[in-house]
Amino acid sequence: ISLKPYNTFGIDVTAKSFLEVNTLADLKTALKVHQNKDLFILGGGSNMLLTQDIDALVLHINLKGIEMLSESDSHVVVKAQAGENWHAFVLWCINNNFGGVENLSLIPGNVGTAPIQNIGAYGVELKDVFLSCEAVEVTTQKVVTFTNAECQFGYRESIFKQQAKGKYIITSVCFSLSKKDHKLHTDYGAITAQLQEMKVTNPTISNVSEAVIAIRESKLPNPKDIGNSGSFFKNPVVSKATFNSLQSQFPNMPYYQVSKETFKIPAGWLIEHAGFKGKTFGNYGVHKKQALVLVNYSNASGKDILNLARLIQKTVKRIFGIDIDTEVNII
Ligand code: EPU
Repeated sequence: ISLKPYNTFGIDVTAKSFLEVNTLADLKTALKVHQNKDLFILGGGSNMLLTQDIDALVLHINLKGIEMLSESDSHVVVKAQAGENWHAFVLWCINNNFGGVENLSLIPGNVGTAPIQNIGAYGVELKDVFLSCEAVEVTTQKVVTFTNAECQFGYRESIFKQQAKGKYIITSVCFSLSKKDHKLHTDYGAITAQLQEMKVTNPTISNVSEAVIAIRESKLPNPKDIGNSGSFFKNPVVSKATFNSLQSQFPNMPYYQVSKETFKIPAGWLIEHAGFKGKTFGNYGVHKKQALVLVNYSNASGKDILNLARLIQKTVKRIFGIDIDTEVNII
């Protein structure tokens, strides 16, 4: 079957076989029955670039459901199944006036894949609201729980991209959300400006979500219209020495200080200043409004987009001396 509808880049590769699992029991059975086969786990398909046909059984994780597990005066614990669409989950929280995920509005993908790369935007990361997740161990079909600390979250990083890679399938995530006195994160420049433009002086959870949606819609392509996987690269973190030398050469370069000794440079700025912003190569290219996003305008191949990514990496390295790593998984 074609995987085109199952990846937000809209790349048309085929899978040898395909199975959708809708319950935990189905998932365990499928893992047992197919234990000698090569498996490829597919969630929302929003963080991958498929460059070849998949010679494996694709398991599409489609477990659904959102429930409140417990509540105190100030907080609620909400459990969402892996196959829930991330933004639909965010809207559910906002409709219930539960705070914590509003800055993460409109991020493509599913709940179950959000912890893998510790999704983040506008000053908030998944790890800030993540309590635990349940996952099935592929080889034993045992259900195990990972706490926040056990996930070893970092910037677009977790244990699921490191030691645990390929070994577990996340089936549900528990979140701790605020019920009252929620501290909104509106200090990110773009949000402050958007709220001002919306003439909101005393923002609610819902206002912040609306602001984030407006910012994202103005900069990031909607995968329904233009194939893409969000930021294709991670923002590089460089040492103070590297930062100082770059800053003296490029005084207008934006940055965020991460720690006393490290600085994060927006890869979008580096790529723009390497001349790639808005560049189109036939049916694919670099997004016009955000250079960090590579786009598939129509039926591009994953290999073409990968070659463009490599060219961008080489050019950024030549001009700035910095390596930029892909955020998207290259398959
Ligand atoms: N910039 C440019 N040119 C560009 C793009 C950005 O000069 O083409 C500059 C901007 O002017 C700004 C700075 O780079 O000074 C940062 O830009 P922006 O606020 O758009 O954020 P980003 O660092 O490019 C990161 C995340 C996004 C997230 C935003 C907002 C990564 C890899 N990306 O992008 O996440 O939405 O911050 O928090 O960390 C994603 O992961 O898919 C994603 C979209």
